Amino acid sequence: TLIRREDYLAPAFWIRTVDLTFDLEPAKTLVTSKMQIERNSAVPHGPLRLHGEELNLLRVLINGDSVSFRQEGHELIIEGAPDADFTLEIRNSCAPEKNTSLSGLYTSGGSFFTQCEAEGFRRITYFLDRPDVMAVYSVHLRADKAKYPVLLSNGNLLEAGELDNGRHFAKWHDPFPKPSYLFALVAGDLVAREQRIRTRAGKDHLLQVFVRRGDLEKTEHAMNSLIASIVWDEARFKLPLDLERFMVVGVSDFNMGAMENKGLNIFNTSALLASPATATDADFHRIESIVAHEYFHNWTGNRVTCRDWFQLSLKEGLTVFRDQEFSMDMAATPSARAVCRIQDVRQLRAMQFPEDSGAMAHPVRPDSYVEINNFYTATVYDKGSEVVRMYQTLVGRAGFEAGMKLYFERHDGQAVTCDDFAQAIADANPGSALTTRLDAFKRWYSQAGTPHLQARGSYDAEARTYTLTLKQSTPATPGQADKLPQVIPVALGLLTHEGQALPLQLQGEAAAAGTERVLVLDQAEQSFVFVEVASAPVPSLLRGFSAPVVLDDGLSDAELLTLLKHDSDAFNRWEASQRLALNRILAAVRSGAPLVLDAAYIEAMRAVLRHAELDAAFKELALTLPGEAYIAEQLDVVDPQAIHAAVEAARLQLAQALATDWAEAYEAHQVKAGYAPDPVQSGRRALANLALAMLVLNATQSGDSVWPGRAYQRFKDAGNMTDRLGALSALVAAHAELAEPALARFHALFKGDELVIDKWFALQGRTPELDGKSFARVKQLMQHPDFTLKNPNRARSLIFSLCMFNPAAFHRKDAAGYVFWAEQVLALDAINPQIASRLARVMDRWTVLAEPYRSAAREAIARVAAKADLSNDVREIVERALASE
Ligand code: ARG
Ligand code: ZN
Repeated sequence: TLIRREDYLAPAFWIRTVDLTFDLEPAKTLVTSKMQIERNSAVPHGPLRLHGEELNLLRVLINGDSVSFRQEGHELIIEGAPDADFTLEIRNSCAPEKNTSLSGLYTSGGSFFTQCEAEGFRRITYFLDRPDVMAVYSVHLRADKAKYPVLLSNGNLLEAGELDNGRHFAKWHDPFPKPSYLFALVAGDLVAREQRIRTRAGKDHLLQVFVRRGDLEKTEHAMNSLIASIVWDEARFKLPLDLERFMVVGVSDFNMGAMENKGLNIFNTSALLASPATATDADFHRIESIVAHEYFHNWTGNRVTCRDWFQLSLKEGLTVFRDQEFSMDMAATPSARAVCRIQDVRQLRAMQFPEDSGAMAHPVRPDSYVEINNFYTATVYDKGSEVVRMYQTLVGRAGFEAGMKLYFERHDGQAVTCDDFAQAIADANPGSALTTRLDAFKRWYSQAGTPHLQARGSYDAEARTYTLTLKQSTPATPGQADKLPQVIPVALGLLTHEGQALPLQLQGEAAAAGTERVLVLDQAEQSFVFVEVASAPVPSLLRGFSAPVVLDDGLSDAELLTLLKHDSDAFNRWEASQRLALNRILAAVRSGAPLVLDAAYIEAMRAVLRHAELDAAFKELALTLPGEAYIAEQLDVVDPQAIHAAVEAARLQLAQALATDWAEAYEAHQVKAGYAPDPVQSGRRALANLALAMLVLNATQSGDSVWPGRAYQRFKDAGNMTDRLGALSALVAAHAELAEPALARFHALFKGDELVIDKWFALQGRTPELDGKSFARVKQLMQHPDFTLKNPNRARSLIFSLCMFNPAAFHRKDAAGYVFWAEQVLALDAINPQIASRLARVMDRWTVLAEPYRSAAREAIARVAAKADLSNDVREIVERALASE
């Protein structure tokens, strides 16, 4: 059934406290729940309806007496609940070891874990499983001591001790009222890295990172990241750690990255464990950002939570924004900050833009859903973060911090809405560009689709004026035909053709206000007139990507080259490099003619590569061609093979034309110092790896064996995973003969390390091999003894890599890729609907595919939809896909 935002009703009852007792056994766990409940006098009198799924109900007592109840679907209904406050006691059992959905209570590697967001708590016991019901939890865990020596839950440990028959117990109490989705327990044979810290406020805290025996040495980076996050949140937002104990636990079977359960964050091991030998620079960076993200949720999510799941971006958009700001502050130098921003925008364009133009397009605050797990999306997270960033752009950094302060003063301990957040930021900044347009600004929450922003400038030499005309429109999306103008902050500068920054003075102003400023577009079309402009300028628009829009600035190649050389905004410098490449690739795809790179472009790229001052990390980003998904976004009809062919042609020509420069860059960017995943070292490694890939590609084409041989040697001798995987992927992409022994060697070397074996599968799944055989390779790897659909990381590593990140192998004229997709969606759905439905989303944009892909895609989607007993998760996705035609 469809749940609508406008149908929100406050709960008929409040649960104030809950005492949970668990007798943990893998086959059958007994749960006893004692709840203090009161009626919500603000809503009409009605029955008590508790959520429960996959449970075995054993008894129901109200104030100690049995009571009549009935079960309807996933609800337990009690008509005769008293008017006065009462105690409800429920006893039920569940089956953790049979729980392959990894939602609720389940086992992984012989230990117990929980995942309750969004609606997993109802798979543990009957409850008002909705985020606006907040209770104080006491948890009593009992389990076999030898098998489960560590017993954890939220909050503080009150007591622990021995029981008969080799069992033991632990009692936990969380003093903060919380919604059920933040409940967690862990029981298993785990070890912890521990660290005591004293925060600025002078309080002592115990930090613990729990992992399986043997993984302890891979937890140092996570612990350091946690400490850095605590320090940062206190400094930037004055938000302290509010618990004596803060625990982080790793688990190998997990549906997402991590989960912010109060005081007991649970992490996918892939987002937690790192060592130089087994994790790449990107892994180190991702771990730092996810550890920070979950920690930051303690305030943005836990202390102030969501009234209902439509408000999910209230906590997710804000927390992504906070983790992005944290990563930028950790990066320290202006150029490393820009690299962070570029990576975040690249991610947004690769994942969120396609989502916003496909079958699943939805506003940052969705209006309806069938399965809420389908809405943990790039739109809610990443576009949501861009919306929060626009608040900061409109009210300034200090104004934003004042708004956050007011938000917590008003709402600490409450379950609130996105409107409450907007109001707090606005009220703290009276008269600001945000506050005077608040209603219009909030369209960012209600309108789906990526706005298109067109900018055209005209210079009047006689009047010395430059008129910039901005026009916007937002495309129709499913269920939303007409859109109103958005409030779009446009950060900009004007450059002379020689690259000098021009002072910016708008008509009517007494003097120029610096060389960079923010214009606010809030109409469908507006013109801004700059005066005292000495010469025809080159506009540098949307600096730092100041709004999540598609910009059409109509700039010529010459103007883009000026920006690439001179713009003081590193983001726009990078953007110019991408636009130059994109223009050429799109021209080739549209015309069907083979792509031939021109000298101007090649020389510009050579200049970037040889530049004396630019950082290696920036060079690597500027020299990496736009992603195929982003290119597809620019086209009305998408032929994935044509896009891939154009990108490959461009890569090969860059490899050939810059061969000696690549070789020099490779030598010049070797890292001699001991491994550290910092921006400088990782930038050097990234550029060296790109150079090596280009050198191997060029050598293979020209029949030369020196660089492939060097790549193999580097693969063998590498002192860290970034270099090893870089060399291996260069071989897999371009040198079949050396790729085979290298892959075999890699597997043998790391066969005991599941996270590295995931990389081994993923590399083979996502690399388009020169002879087009990666599809066959994936089919073969499905039979590999290490492959299993049951572990989400492993399923993702092979299947998602192919279907999501390897368009050239996936979109086949014989439709075999889509047949494979349908089979895997159905197979996964029987095991884990959340993972299946994520895979189903691969077909979001099937309607824009060229023939024969389009018809074949429709047939594959219809085949999945025809299955009778699909999960709600997958059904919602495939039905929306079919309806989008
Ligand atoms: N709240 C978690 C995080 O952002 C993710 C939970 C995802 N839940 C889900 N049902 N998909 O850190
Ligand atoms: Zn989150």
